[in-house]
Amino acid sequence: MIVMSIWCSSLSLSSRSLAIAVVVSVTLLYFSYSFNACLLASISRSLQQSNIRNLLALTSSTRNDTSDEGNSSRSSRSSNNSSVSPVSPVSSSSAPPAQTVTSSLDGAPKYQLLRQQGLRPSRHLPDTLIIGVKKSGTRALLEFIRLHPDVRAAGSEVHFFDRHYQRGLRWYRHHMPYTIEGQITMEKTPSYFVTKEVPQRVYHMNPATKLLIVVRDPVTRAISDYTQAASKKADMKRFEQLAFVNGSYAVVDTNWGPVKIGVYARFLERWLLYFPLSQLLFISGERLIMDPAYEIGRVQDFLGLKRVVTEKHFYFNATKGFPCLFKSEARSTPHCLGKTKGRNHPHIDPGAIERLREFYRPFNNKFYQLTGINFSWP
Ligand code: A3P
Repeated sequence: MIVMSIWCSSLSLSSRSLAIAVVVSVTLLYFSYSFNACLLASISRSLQQSNIRNLLALTSSTRNDTSDEGNSSRSSRSSNNSSVSPVSPVSSSSAPPAQTVTSSLDGAPKYQLLRQQGLRPSRHLPDTLIIGVKKSGTRALLEFIRLHPDVRAAGSEVHFFDRHYQRGLRWYRHHMPYTIEGQITMEKTPSYFVTKEVPQRVYHMNPATKLLIVVRDPVTRAISDYTQAASKKADMKRFEQLAFVNGSYAVVDTNWGPVKIGVYARFLERWLLYFPLSQLLFISGERLIMDPAYEIGRVQDFLGLKRVVTEKHFYFNATKGFPCLFKSEARSTPHCLGKTKGRNHPHIDPGAIERLREFYRPFNNKFYQLTGINFSWP
């Protein structure tokens, strides 16, 4: 149309005017074309970036099938859904693993966008492990730290080093979430801390692995462990009957799992045969409840991460009696950990509790010495 109108009007114009009109029209057409091309390219770029974020969230969430209690299917979905925000260009990660076994994404079309962006998400063996201690707040720690955009975690407990070691590292890596450069891969299996072979196996995977250990007053931990077991077994004996030999409080049954696990010093010594103390971070289970932002701050520092997860992420839920999350990548509404976290404990005879405290005291002191931290357990 423009050309037609130029042509019609040009009938009454001189050839000089005609030439000027043609030049002006062509110039206008050129600028209009360039502007539209730029606009389209910019829209396409932002769509691609948003797709990248969605894809990374998707690849992570597909593995977030929490199973804190072994193979139990009763695990809470609510704790699963607090997966982290996807990639942010923020900080550096911990030291790269010595093991460089990686797995590239398959050729699925949905990953083409990531590849076009020069990003190659792949599965890596973990840089960091939450190795325990069972019933001390390990799930809370994982859910809180994975709010960080540079932390990607396997949702379920993989139990590679204690149950599935024979399957090999390739199998293990396949259970890890996809990550891109700069993101930390994390896994939590609390039984690692107490399983004899695990320290050496982790060392062989990567001697630079960072280890996170949540610890809690061993008496409360034992009661929590018992409460969990009793919730699965209707005719469970009373705690007091199981924690002591021969029905009196004279001899503590150190073979009973809930009691045995609380002798932290004994298990820690095995880890220290393979890893320097500087590669271990001890998190107070009590403080993780009282002041989660403080403990998560320490964890971020230890992992070389920018402090992104702060007090702004938490609120205290009075009904639950525990800190909960305002929102996460997967859920924009406030939510708490699931029903299996923060259970009501049964009443335990104070005499039994006092006797257990007495039993643990020397082991706790040894643990304080080994870690250089006084947890002040009663
Ligand atoms: P109880 O259920 O006995 O209270 P783990 O995740 O290692 O199994 O630990 C479970 C414990 O985490 C719970 O034990 C609870 O005390 C503690 N915990 C710490 N922070 C919590 C939180 N924000 N919500 C629920 N439980 C939390």
